[in-house]
Parts: sequence; C-alpha cells; structure tokens
Amino acid sequence: MAEFSSRHLLGIRGLKRSDIEAVFQNAREFKAVINRPIKKVPSLRDLTVANLFFENSTRTRLSFELAEKRLSADVVNFSAASSSVKKGETLADTVNNILAMKVDMVVMRHPHPGAPHYLAEKIGVPIINAGDGTHEHPTQALLDSFTLTEKLGSLEGKKVCIFGDIRHSRVALSNVLCLKLLGAEVMVCGPVTLIPKHFDSLGVQVGHDVDKALAWCDVANVLRIQLERQGTEVPYFPSLEEYHAGFGITQARLDKLSHRPLILHPGPMNRGVEIASDVADGGDAVILDQVENGVAVRMAVLYLLAGRLGGSED
Ligand code: CP
Repeated sequence: MAEFSSRHLLGIRGLKRSDIEAVFQNAREFKAVINRPIKKVPSLRDLTVANLFFENSTRTRLSFELAEKRLSADVVNFSAASSSVKKGETLADTVNNILAMKVDMVVMRHPHPGAPHYLAEKIGVPIINAGDGTHEHPTQALLDSFTLTEKLGSLEGKKVCIFGDIRHSRVALSNVLCLKLLGAEVMVCGPVTLIPKHFDSLGVQVGHDVDKALAWCDVANVLRIQLERQGTEVPYFPSLEEYHAGFGITQARLDKLSHRPLILHPGPMNRGVEIASDVADGGDAVILDQVENGVAVRMAVLYLLAGRLGGSED
C-alpha cells in the first residue's frame, strides 16, 4: 500500500515525489467511491477531526468537511470569527483546549505564514495546513496537479504557467514545488510588482508578457488578484481595468494561439479581472473538476495521515 513519509502535511516543501504519488493513488480510489450511490467508507471511523478556520474559506473548508464525513470521521468545526479568539485567547491555548476534547487530527487555515508549523511543535496530533497566509496551500497544489494528471497523463515535461498575483498567493509556491517534483516545466507570469524576486531561485521561468506565456504553456493556472492582502497606499498596478487589459486571460488572447491550454483557477475568481467570464466558463476550463477532485484528494491526505497515527515522530 502507498504510504506517506510525513506525520503532518504542512506544505509541499519537504514532501517526496512518492508522497504525492501516494496521494494520487488513493485519491483515484476515493474518487471512484464518492461517485457511487453509497459514498461513505469507514476508514476514519472513531477518529475526530477538528477544522480550525482562522480565515475565510468556501471550497477548502467544505471540501475538508465532506472528505472527513465520507471517511466516517466525527467532525468539529471552529471559526475564529465566532470564537473566544475574539476575547484574546492565543492560538496555542485555543488549540490545546480543542485537543483536550480528544481530537485526533487538526486541519487549520490561518492568516499568518508558519502558523501550522508553530503548532506542529506544540501539539501531538497530525496537522494539515489548509492555507497559511501567503506561504503554502498544499492540498490546493495536490488537487491542481491531480486534475492535470487526469487530463494530461504524466506531467513530465509539461509546461505550466501560473499567472497573476504571485506575491500574495499561497497557491503559487505550493504549485511550483508540486509541479517541479512531478517533472513539469514551470513559469510564473504577471506584473513585475506582483512577482517576488525569490521566485528566480525556485528554478522557474519568470515572464511579464501574457501573450508569450500563453503561447508557451500547455496549462494556464490563473490566480486571483488578492486585493485584501495588498493594502492601498502604494498600488501594485494602476487599476483593475488596466490589470485586465494587460494581464487578464481573455478569449481574444486565447483565440490567437495555435493550441488550447487547459485553464485552471483555484477560486474564488474575480471575473473580468484576472480571468474573463467566457474563459472561466469555456470548454478548456477545468475549474469545477478542480473543486470535485478536492474532496477525493483531501480524503487521500486524511487517510494517509490517519494511517500514521501512533507511528514514529518525524
Ligand atoms: N481555493 C481556495 O482555497 O478557496 P477557499 O478560500 O474558498 O477555500
């Protein structure tokens, strides 16, 4: 049986290619399960998973909850907005109080980069990072690459370009690391102001010309402009309209190509900003496949980490 080398899933950094392949192998099996009339398996029966969301989410939160329920886990949900965090309770105190209720695994989204890594040193149960600030979003990268392998087969030598607000994205780093482990060639493309300098050192191409990048790639993964993380004093680009004109993925741009790249977007989308509506809803978009696959991929991650409960520390 395929196994996972880590006790936690804190990021794609630190994973091996065999870990990703183990996730994909199990995800394929779970995808078959959730397409059956009886969608549940008993794999996590008698285990309790806490979903701790200190930041807003639609897809990730619902997808983890569904994945846990499909695996027959007991589930508790925590939302910072309606919790005692508002009264000043620390992250460690909040989590330790939840663990005192005999929780076996924690899924956590937090606005601060590194929050799940900090927690992993403090508590004794597996932690899955559901997005930590602008740092990593490992299950998003896994479901993105899983979707690509379904559509394209092996990613070895495939050309994937990640477009948009790389600077404020946790999806970008996790995707770069995951795609490179799977043998893909990766480019990031956006305004100079939205691509941090350290991306050069990740072994990716850096581009600023959307038309050239689209001509190069087999896959366009379009990221959201994260206005809520940008602040307003020194704008990163003149206006949303100018961003769309210069960097938006539009049907007019795609019509100029001699091939048809697959279009991904992790959501939530800003229609008419980083992606035009007709592209988002068009025949080459696999955006809802990504969402569907999120449940199976998260079932696989939960299942593999549960298999290590009681195993050695690492
Ligand atoms: N892709 C993603 O993480 O979406 P949510 O913020 O809705 O979870």
